[in-house]
Amino acid sequence: MTATAPVGMSSSAVLGTGRVALVTGASRGIGPLIAREVARAGGHVVLSARSAEDLRAVTSGLTAAGADVSFLPADLTSPGASQALVTEVERRHGGIDLLVNNAGGDPLREFHAMTIEENLRTLELNLVAPVALAHAALGGMLSRGRGHVVNISAMAGRVAFPYTEVYAAAKDGLIGFTRVLRNDYHARGVSASVIILGAIRGSGQGQRMLDEAAMKANAFMAPADSVAKAVVKAVRRDRAEVVVMPGPARLLRAVMDYFPALGPAVSRASGANASMKTIIDLREARQGPRASGLASAGR
Ligand SMILES: NC(=O)c1ccc[n+]([C@@H]2O[C@H](COP(=O)([O-])OP(=O)(O)OC[C@H]3O[C@@H](n4cnc5c(N)ncnc54)[C@H](OP(=O)(O)O)[C@@H]3O)[C@@H](O)[C@H]2O)c1
Repeated sequence: MTATAPVGMSSSAVLGTGRVALVTGASRGIGPLIAREVARAGGHVVLSARSAEDLRAVTSGLTAAGADVSFLPADLTSPGASQALVTEVERRHGGIDLLVNNAGGDPLREFHAMTIEENLRTLELNLVAPVALAHAALGGMLSRGRGHVVNISAMAGRVAFPYTEVYAAAKDGLIGFTRVLRNDYHARGVSASVIILGAIRGSGQGQRMLDEAAMKANAFMAPADSVAKAVVKAVRRDRAEVVVMPGPARLLRAVMDYFPALGPAVSRASGANASMKTIIDLREARQGPRASGLASAGR
């Protein structure tokens, strides 16, 4: 496909009647909210995750609310799963206009206490799978001259959030991946946006951690439905990056980018180190030290 779409106009056509979106990580947490918001914009939304039962329940709820949705289970850490998922969505629905790479999670265990294989699974889920899905979907998007990839990233690396070494590497990797993908394919009608999340309340892994430790949400946490709105806004306005964090936290991110050596001091002073260690200790006491791996990531 040669360059046809004017810059800034490429993605407006990926939402609405006749369009197809694939949202990963849509069985629980923030994903169902993203799927609902994308479905509200029109078109068909395919929800994916490992758990068929959870997907069935979410899909039924959305259908009852008038959304045009279906589901396809997939374990994105299995070899070949990303290509197979994209191929099946394309076969059933004729193509993918919007890919939302939302599936992700962190085992929240100390880096040294996990085997290298356990650490690499975090990389597989949070970085390798989004790259593989985008790679698999890109050919169809280019042939139709339209498409948008939205990657859900996190502030973890930017603010040196404790006990997230490999998760932070993956999420920072997604930011770089999105920037270059956008650069290289925008003029051919395919755009990319990254949504960078701080801690999220109301749904998802952050809220579950609070619940486990009987902690309360603080002023730095954004509501889960603001992530869903940010996804649709990023597509409609063709934004390169959207940060979902309450006001003062954005300033913190800018300061931390400028002075990265401040990370450990901020994590200590904000109580993040102590809170996260409390949660790790609680999980290990309840489940045993090997039980909180990626299979139960963010649950
Ligand atoms: N919540 C927060 O505070 C926060 C903050 C920053 C960034 N984020 C990011 O936001 C995204 C959504 O997070 P969340 O809080 O909604 O997480 P969540 O509640 O733990 O949900 C994770 C989703 O990913 C799916 N998933 C996990 N492993 C998978 C695998 N191997 N293959 C396919 N799907 C898999 C899960 O479904 P199954 O278990 O059924 O497979 C689930 O639908 C993630 O990328 C996360 O890193 C969240």
